[in-house]
Amino acid sequence: MKAVNASTTQLKQDLEKLKKNYEEYQKKGLNLNISRGLPCKEQLDLNGEMFHVLDEDNYMAEDGTDCRNYGVMYGLPECTRLFSQLLDIPEENIVLGGESSLNLMYDQFLRYYAFGTLGEKPWSDQAKEHELKWLCPVPGYDCHFNLTEALGFRMINIPLLSTGPDMDMVEKLVANDPAIKGIWCVPQYSNPTGVVYSDETVERLAKMKTAAPDFRIFWDNAYAVHHLYKENIVKDIFKAAKPYGTEDRILYFFSTAKITFAGSGVCLMASGDGTIEETRRLLKLQIFSHDKLNQLRHVKYLKTPENIRNHMKEVAAVLRPRFDLVDRLLTEKRLYEDVYTWFKPDGGYFITVDSYEGCAKKILEMTENAGVKVATAASTYPYHYDPNDSNIRLAPTYPPMEELEEAIKLFCICANIAAIEKVLAERGV
Ligand SMILES: Cc1ncc(COP(=O)(O)O)c(C=O)c1O
Repeated sequence: MKAVNASTTQLKQDLEKLKKNYEEYQKKGLNLNISRGLPCKEQLDLNGEMFHVLDEDNYMAEDGTDCRNYGVMYGLPECTRLFSQLLDIPEENIVLGGESSLNLMYDQFLRYYAFGTLGEKPWSDQAKEHELKWLCPVPGYDCHFNLTEALGFRMINIPLLSTGPDMDMVEKLVANDPAIKGIWCVPQYSNPTGVVYSDETVERLAKMKTAAPDFRIFWDNAYAVHHLYKENIVKDIFKAAKPYGTEDRILYFFSTAKITFAGSGVCLMASGDGTIEETRRLLKLQIFSHDKLNQLRHVKYLKTPENIRNHMKEVAAVLRPRFDLVDRLLTEKRLYEDVYTWFKPDGGYFITVDSYEGCAKKILEMTENAGVKVATAASTYPYHYDPNDSNIRLAPTYPPMEELEEAIKLFCICANIAAIEKVLAERGV
């Protein structure tokens, strides 16, 4: 039953009970923060062996390179090979980065700003002539939006459907506007909605005509191997791009941040031949080599694609109970169907909730006033503006189960209160 169909008397009774529950929570003096998608201690502890795979006699790469020294700018060949096999991307189309893929995305933007790409004017020069724009599937990842906002792009919201970005809208926009320089995509278990792009979406992104010759797809495949319940594999965008010659349009990012150690992983960028050649040339201005000891450590620890997949099954076994708990509480504690809806993803790191329209900010304020930071309001939208004031990203991966349970129970109380108060207010009560 929906709250909008319940009687006013019933809703008032519900509200009274809920408010008592809320007051009890306020008295508990909680001080919890479940707002970021960090790996939990048990997940990190799975990698204990990583500290022991290198020692003072064991730092040589397979070709005899001493990994303690400068050199091998584009990444150790055996590390590149491992990820090439895992992701099915040719080794020659991969450049390894440092410890963070977000950092690599930032670098790539700044290269385009400073130098342009493949003969096109630098974006900094183009921005003097007209405002540059960027397509942002929503809800999306706040770090992406923060970056394109800081760089001055006018961000355009694109609804993220169950198949990926609304491609009718994307195709129409990019075909006609050369100021649109790119789109953010998290194709598998998207942050935060958990959507997996359909084959058709991948095909259309690869094929579409763009008015800007330097239009780029930032294909952030951060959760490529992060299955929890079912193994979805997104269509290979490079293979889709090949018949159209659009491989350089794709900047594919991947990292082991949520496989090994967050902030101490290995990341990579893959693209077409032209972009990779250009990136290698420009990288020479920037660095002698990334952390080869870390790359070697990853190869010695992760060993094979199969071993990585098995490791991710162990990670999933740690994370699944957390996702199950959140799903169960959201189901049990919701008083009416329209109080909120949510999506339990097959993988990734988040559960997305849509509250009763116009309630998200209020819910998050209420949880904070009871000592629990659940999420940052509207952070899943560009400019921190959620037009419906309803999307909330839940991050179940980090807190211990007991803390997660406390936080989600409180969240549900607040979501029920906010929705019922809104319904009553809409009735003029
Ligand atoms: C979609 C997405 N991309 C990138 C990152 C950050 O990855 P890294 O640690 O490799 O910078 C995250 C982390 O939450 C993410 O969710």
